[in-house]
Amino acid sequence: NIKPTPEQVDSYLSSKLLHPDYGKDPTFAKNLERIKEHDIPQIQITPLQGQFLSLLVRSIGAERVLEIGTLTGYSTSYISKALPYHGRIDTLEINEKHSKIAQENFLESDLFPFPKIHLGPALKTLKTLKIPEEGLYDFIFIDANKDQVLDYFLESIKMLRKGGLIVVDNAIREGKIIPSSEQSSTIEVEGFRKLYDWLEQDNGKTVLASGIQTVSSKSWDGFLIMTKLV
Ligand code: DHB
Ligand code: MG
Repeated sequence: NIKPTPEQVDSYLSSKLLHPDYGKDPTFAKNLERIKEHDIPQIQITPLQGQFLSLLVRSIGAERVLEIGTLTGYSTSYISKALPYHGRIDTLEINEKHSKIAQENFLESDLFPFPKIHLGPALKTLKTLKIPEEGLYDFIFIDANKDQVLDYFLESIKMLRKGGLIVVDNAIREGKIIPSSEQSSTIEVEGFRKLYDWLEQDNGKTVLASGIQTVSSKSWDGFLIMTKLV
């Protein structure tokens, strides 16, 4: 009696659910090839997680998206594909090499709306970024360096409309986010603990939040998902 693994379930779900215009679009396989070719860390979201972002974006009718942490634009592409043609997506990336590969991917995939990459440290960009003329952002995806996750959250939520969504990747980190005397902490988990402490203090005034733990072909991790209440 062998128990199926999360990896096997991920494969099963992928075979049943990946959509021709999303997970099965050749753009994602090409993006992964580039990641391997350039020896870039393979830390992008899974196809099913990408489609999850796509469905969230579609389900709230989002038109304007802000992404913090482009890497090679894998998640960016899932988001772009879920937006209407007149939508826009701003994506922030500190690493020039990553941003160039992302740009190549976007051009090759002929994405519409075409993501605008803002090269530089995200916090600096966030402080100078102009709110789109069309209005506040509808959706924010935070997936950059984890030590500054609270700063990214606080700066970006100012630019989110009421009822908009913020999704934060890697919010569980194999459970290491729980303070424990046995394990020495890292700047990454310390970053998330500051965000969770902020949310505890906020006590539901600013956002309604939930944490979704995920097992997948990636390790045990999860999303923190929030909607802005005010
Ligand atoms: C790491 C970062 C990520 O964004 C991710 O999805 C997985 C791992 C990391 O820094 O280790
Ligand atoms: Mg991530």
